[in-house]
Amino acid sequence: MAGLLCERTTRQSDGIGNRSMGELDGKVAIVTGAGRGLGRVEALDLARHGARVVVSDLGVSADGQGRDESAGQSVVDEIKAMGGEAVAHFGDVADWNDSKAMVQAALEHFGDLNILVCNAGFCRDRMIFGMSEEEFDSVIRVHLKGHFCGIRHASEYWRNKGKAEGQVYGRIISTSSEAAIFASTGQPNYAAAKAGIIAVTNSAAQGLAKYGVTGNTFMPRARTAMTMVGQTAAMFEKPEEGFDQFAPEHVTPLVSYLASPAAANISGNVFVVWGKEIAVLSYPKRDVELQVDEAWDFEAVRTKVGGYFEGKRPIADSFIVPGPG
Ligand SMILES: NC(=O)c1ccc[n+]([C@@H]2O[C@H](COP(=O)([O-])OP(=O)(O)OC[C@H]3O[C@@H](n4cnc5c(N)ncnc54)[C@H](O)[C@@H]3O)[C@@H](O)[C@H]2O)c1
Repeated sequence: MAGLLCERTTRQSDGIGNRSMGELDGKVAIVTGAGRGLGRVEALDLARHGARVVVSDLGVSADGQGRDESAGQSVVDEIKAMGGEAVAHFGDVADWNDSKAMVQAALEHFGDLNILVCNAGFCRDRMIFGMSEEEFDSVIRVHLKGHFCGIRHASEYWRNKGKAEGQVYGRIISTSSEAAIFASTGQPNYAAAKAGIIAVTNSAAQGLAKYGVTGNTFMPRARTAMTMVGQTAAMFEKPEEGFDQFAPEHVTPLVSYLASPAAANISGNVFVVWGKEIAVLSYPKRDVELQVDEAWDFEAVRTKVGGYFEGKRPIADSFIVPGPG
């Protein structure tokens, strides 16, 4: 799919209305899936901090159907109304050529690329025993390949620039989900894609560290089209009064911070962010190291491994318990 349409907007001379510190002045950002939901508020916040933004979106529904270019265009218009600079890019994040064109759009319109926020995606939930091949493939494609394609093309630009100029300013910010660690039962496709995103991001972060590029992943919780469906909708509902903990805007300060010069020393990390909380996850650790004197045999495994698991529940003790707090 090669649908590409860009519209340039011009930053007003009277500055950005709600702009705060200018932490991202002069930086060029791409946000995928920026037409609505989390991507929209992330794009707006990056612009508010001074970044020029490529608003990339295909305008599909929460389960990946249809196509609507008005969503991405309206975010460009919002940034323009704030006095910022933005272009829309209408392409499929998981299409090799579209994602290449997306990176190219940043270079053509703004002359550089500094920040890539990979966010686009959709869900097709089903229990493992009923999931179709298409439901699995399409969700792996949009999230995991969608992250890979953008990171791949941005990385090539940063590596070439880094080889020519030494250090570059590059920030990869990827969107995973707590589904990856809680392994949510109705989302074997989504949970797998979201786990893979951490690996893709950290692999890129390691490979590009010497050029000055960082890569981090976050797991948000927010009220969007994706969460306002089915059983989760009630939980994400806006409260009639009090703190609106699932407002998507609570996620954006972390994204803008990770995109900023202030976060140059943060790379390869995974965050959970929502409401008033930001959690930093640790890497999976070895709980225990079991050894034998000679070689393993069935009885040795039964004694050592079986002994370790004795009294533990089959699966629940392995996972972190989800939920607020
Ligand atoms: N909302 C949450 O609580 C939550 C929790 C965990 C993870 N996430 C992740 O956050 C990201 C944003 O989700 P959201 O909740 O804002 O959902 P959303 O449905 O509101 O927005 C997703 C956006 O991605 C775009 N998109 C989908 N497929 C695309 C494609 N192939 N190419 C380009 N754009 C495409 C859509 O058009 C839409 O604008 C997703 O990666 C999602 O998995 C969200």
